[in-house]
Amino acid sequence: MPHQITIQPSGHVVSAQPGETILEAALREGYSLPYGCRNGACGTCKGRIIQGTVDFGSHNEDTLTEDEKQAGMALFCRATPLSDVVIECREIGAIKDIRIRTLPCRVHRMERVAPDVMVIFLRLPASERLQFLAGQYIDILMKDGRRRSFSLANAPHDDELLQLHVRNYPGGTFAEHVFGRMKERDILRFEGPLGTFFLREESDKPIIFVASGTGFAPVKSILEHAFHVRHLQSGERQMVLYWGNRTPADLYMANLAGSWQQAHDNFTFIPVLSDVSPADGWTGRTGLVHQAVLEDFDSLAGYQVYACGTPAMVAAAHRDFTRLRSLPEDEFFSDAFIPSTVPSDSSLS
Ligand code: FES
Repeated sequence: MPHQITIQPSGHVVSAQPGETILEAALREGYSLPYGCRNGACGTCKGRIIQGTVDFGSHNEDTLTEDEKQAGMALFCRATPLSDVVIECREIGAIKDIRIRTLPCRVHRMERVAPDVMVIFLRLPASERLQFLAGQYIDILMKDGRRRSFSLANAPHDDELLQLHVRNYPGGTFAEHVFGRMKERDILRFEGPLGTFFLREESDKPIIFVASGTGFAPVKSILEHAFHVRHLQSGERQMVLYWGNRTPADLYMANLAGSWQQAHDNFTFIPVLSDVSPADGWTGRTGLVHQAVLEDFDSLAGYQVYACGTPAMVAAAHRDFTRLRSLPEDEFFSDAFIPSTVPSDSSLS
């Protein structure tokens, strides 16, 4: 029997089919609740059950603890209603007008920009364009039924080719395909756009972007969008990008980020390397990328932070920025890249 889900404070009501999660039901009816991984790993969809009971579903125990369950919290991407429920959740207004679609595409071009990073450009059928918000991702649908998630690195207005940044690592099934067998003109299928990691344009707070590795991809999309959109060009909203990598060779688009800094007074680029040797001749910042932010800011109370990269970096940034630097909880936005080698049906890379 379908159960009714009432979303507070909006008062929107959706009906969950048997076995459907709260998130699936809400998305199907056009209401975008915040989500990232959709597999119980990232915590983006966590919210409160005000009334009613749910099956919490399988999830990472660190992402939703027993204490949190006792306190009425749930992961809406995993929780299925066992009765009519009332939930508390901040809806994403801007996304609900964007249709999630499954589309074919052709590999148009591949560029190896670092020893372990390939940029792939995808072309849609002639009559198609993908509407998305800068910072969102797509799921590549693999032939064996699995999915691999990749942030779109191009800005929405620059949509002739979709751009993905793929990092190679042992056991990464799709990455190994890209680096070993994929050729130009190959056909892929994907679903998207997905995710709630996008620029909150209604705010005028200064922004700190923190990226590690290919976490640069969605930040590139957001920044190119911000540089393009008229009402964000005023230069009043200061933006700084901290991009963490291991070695100079890993900074695969440093020249591009440097050119943004030259062109825009309100943008600063700070590369941070964690594994440099004297032979590198590196004179820039060193250490962990989120530590560099802690060193530079005594307080983040008046900022927004967008963090994208490894789960460890995103978790450390969230913990330290909110606890040590007074960043408001709801001004931290993130996408954590979860390797595909862990058992999961979706992972962002
Ligand atoms: S835990 Fe639910 S979206 Fe990641």
